[in-house]
Amino acid sequence: MKICIVGGGLAGLAFAVSLSKAVAEDRDVEISVVEQRDFSSRGATFGLALNGQVALQDICPSLLEELKNIGILLPTGGYMLPWYCVRDGLLEHARRCQNVTIFTNTSVVSATDKGVDDILVTLEETSADGTVNTTTVKMDLLIGADGVHSSVRSLVGAPPAVSSHTKCWRGALNDLPPHLSHVLDIPTGKMIKTESGLFGIFNFNTSMAGFVSWVATSKNLDVMTPFEALEGIEDSNDLTLAQGLLEASTQQEREFFTTLSTIPLNMETGWGGKGRITLIGDAAHALRPASGLGGSLAFEDAVLLTRAITKHMDSDESIDAALREFESLRFVRCQTILEDQTRIAESGYGTAAKSFKWTPEYEKWVFAGPDADLKPPLNMYVGDEENVAEGGAVKRETNHRVLAARPTSSSISLSSSLSSS
Ligand SMILES: *[C@@H]1O[C@H](CO)[C@@H](O)[C@H](O)[C@H]1NC(C)=O
Ligand SMILES: *[C@@H]1O[C@H](CO)[C@@H](O)[C@H](O)[C@H]1NC(C)=O
Ligand SMILES: *[C@@H]1O[C@H](CO)[C@@H](O)[C@H](O)[C@H]1NC(C)=O
Ligand SMILES: *[C@@H]1O[C@H](CO)[C@@H](O)[C@H](O)[C@H]1NC(C)=O
Repeated sequence: MKICIVGGGLAGLAFAVSLSKAVAEDRDVEISVVEQRDFSSRGATFGLALNGQVALQDICPSLLEELKNIGILLPTGGYMLPWYCVRDGLLEHARRCQNVTIFTNTSVVSATDKGVDDILVTLEETSADGTVNTTTVKMDLLIGADGVHSSVRSLVGAPPAVSSHTKCWRGALNDLPPHLSHVLDIPTGKMIKTESGLFGIFNFNTSMAGFVSWVATSKNLDVMTPFEALEGIEDSNDLTLAQGLLEASTQQEREFFTTLSTIPLNMETGWGGKGRITLIGDAAHALRPASGLGGSLAFEDAVLLTRAITKHMDSDESIDAALREFESLRFVRCQTILEDQTRIAESGYGTAAKSFKWTPEYEKWVFAGPDADLKPPLNMYVGDEENVAEGGAVKRETNHRVLAARPTSSSISLSSSLSSS
């Protein structure tokens, strides 16, 4: 069986490791990971929530231990990590896995699924001198793990990402200049409100001496630089600190921004997979960064898609059916968390007057990991209970009303995943 995973980010690498381990005795499995760029990008921070830890325990327990040692433990039980540490850890394990081959500077340009025995995938490799080598290979399966602007998503004709109209800059500093060394005294980090967004500082000193990362967001698309994004910071010490961090960063970090986007899930368009093609991670369900759950859902996908494929290999079930089963298993959970994170992100960015606090049963469900119940509990937010008790018939699926007026628990968890490439 030949499997092509498009995207060498966290979702793609985690799935490669997971599947390779699950089929280790089966010498007939060949896994190719195709990455459009190389592995030089460093991202910013990554949130490894409790559910992601459950999934990673299944995928690669030794990596989970390594990451716990370098991560910063948050009050939610999650860990805040430098994004590249998670990527490099997965990459190292993927390189050691049997039957996994990783191709860099290679993108997928077409995939033809005639509904027969295999799918024809055309790959384009661009070498350092600019020459392009085009190859067409027969594959049994194509997995789009290529992020929110997924090329596989567009190959299957699934709707593109939706902009959340938020610009985002990220940076990481290994050595702080002496006048900024007081950043290391901030426990864990800090979220500073600006007029149009947030400036987040993440202090990793307890595990990686001197390492600090930052993220700047702005909902004002006219803001052109991260310096302009600091407009509206009230405390002058905070402002000096944020400016200092930007000045100490590289020009590339100050200039490069992404516009945050989501991939919403709805019944009409479904998950997006088709035939021998499916999607995982951000390519299937990109969240607004709120409680740091995006990467953890990708790890859950890796575990469950592995199970679906190994189950298919042991049975007569067609591969298409196995992929559709995986997608339907994931749909409600991912959709629920997506909508929840959108509400929390909107309230966190100051555009809504109120905020949402999870009920203990909803929190338990989110953090349960790949084997969580298929359906979420009835009450997601504190306040739902009263509405139900009053006969307010709060329906989860349609309820977009603000249900609770409590402040969000910990401000650091708010954007612990304004992360990744
Ligand atoms: C998978 O890896 C094993 C061990 O390295 C090797 O013997 C086998 O030929 C590989 N199978 C394929 C299909 O590449
Ligand atoms: C990949 O592309 C980059 C940028 O063009 C180049 O610097 C690098 O050498 C390439 N890597 C390989 C293995 O060709
Ligand atoms: C093009 O790529 C294929 C598959 O990776 C490889 O077998 C072939 O040698 C390459 N051709 C050239 C001209 O580099
Ligand atoms: C930062 O880490 C270094 C090395 O572990 C330690 O010596 C120093 O005290 C730490 N600084 C702060 C402010 O915690």
